[in-house]
Amino acid sequence: MGQVLAVLDLQRVYEVKRSVFSVKKDIIHALSGVSLDLDQGKTIGIVGESGSGKSTLARCILLLERPDGGTISFMGKDLLGLPKGELKSLRKKMQIIFQDPYSSLNPRKKVFDTIAEPLLFHEIVDRKGVKGKVMEILKNVGLDEGFVNKYPHEMSGGQRQRVAIGRSLTTDPALIIADEPVSSLDVSIQSQIVNLFLDIKDRTDIAMLFVSHDLNVVRFVSDEIMVMYKGRVVETGTKDEVFLNPLHPYTKMLINAAKGEFSRREEDAAFDESKGCAYYPRCEQRKAHCRDSIPRLTGSKEHKIACFPESGGKSAHSS
Ligand SMILES: Nc1ncnc2c1ncn2[C@@H]1O[C@H](COP(=O)(O)OP(=O)(O)O)[C@@H](O)[C@H]1O
Ligand SMILES: [Mg+2]
Repeated sequence: MGQVLAVLDLQRVYEVKRSVFSVKKDIIHALSGVSLDLDQGKTIGIVGESGSGKSTLARCILLLERPDGGTISFMGKDLLGLPKGELKSLRKKMQIIFQDPYSSLNPRKKVFDTIAEPLLFHEIVDRKGVKGKVMEILKNVGLDEGFVNKYPHEMSGGQRQRVAIGRSLTTDPALIIADEPVSSLDVSIQSQIVNLFLDIKDRTDIAMLFVSHDLNVVRFVSDEIMVMYKGRVVETGTKDEVFLNPLHPYTKMLINAAKGEFSRREEDAAFDESKGCAYYPRCEQRKAHCRDSIPRLTGSKEHKIACFPESGGKSAHSS
């Protein structure tokens, strides 16, 4: 299996003014040393609560914004060092699906044009072949021919997301990044769209990064799971390792919360995140030393965690 994407030590810092009148700025480490490897045909599920840096990671990989450090290799090319001309042809090989298909589709365009335009623009088919190709794509995303003349407002959220997914398939991408693609849909529709992603996974070699705050969604589509907390990867591994044998206290909390069991420690306002484990203020299993040093991500290829073994996390080194 060929490698599609390799992200190494990605950094992204935002400076935000404390208030309109203030000159003081807060520094937000949206990404602190995030790495991942993704092979053809594989899906990595990225989980973590709101603000953990999932969308920032997606935007940096897609070069919608420039990271402050680290490297991104896509289809063997160094994305951050590539001349503009070469970037253009690579860019169509990566596609994004957003949470809200209504805002990602042009309200004045019929489904036919939404799908036909990228096909013609990238010269994937000619004028004669376009109709057949549009129909084929619609069929692949579970929409019948009658949809070609519909506008976004004439469709349901799930149907709109199918159109957005169809459009992303037009350029024969090597990578699809789906950022919370079912979060805005009714629960009853979510599983249909999740199944569509599974279908695409079965039928194609497309690699996927599937971002969701919902563990139950990620569980179905992913081969590997990456758990993020405040811009860092706290646990990563195969789906079974992470779900059946979670080692990091944060992952355990997320899994329990998904089952409906909540537990939360009081936040500790005086804590300095640049010095210790970012999860320290909420950790059920913290020890004194977790306050003063930042745990590194260590373990085997199948399972890594960033947690001191004497604290919550059993070592992920085993086997
Ligand atoms: N454009 C921006 N300017 C300032 N801060 C931002 C910006 N985008 C994201 N952030 C901050 O970066 C952190 C990560 O955000 P984000 O990547 O959106 O997380 P997630 O997608 O996991 O919810 C948050 O603290 C967020 O407030
Ligand atoms: Mg997000």
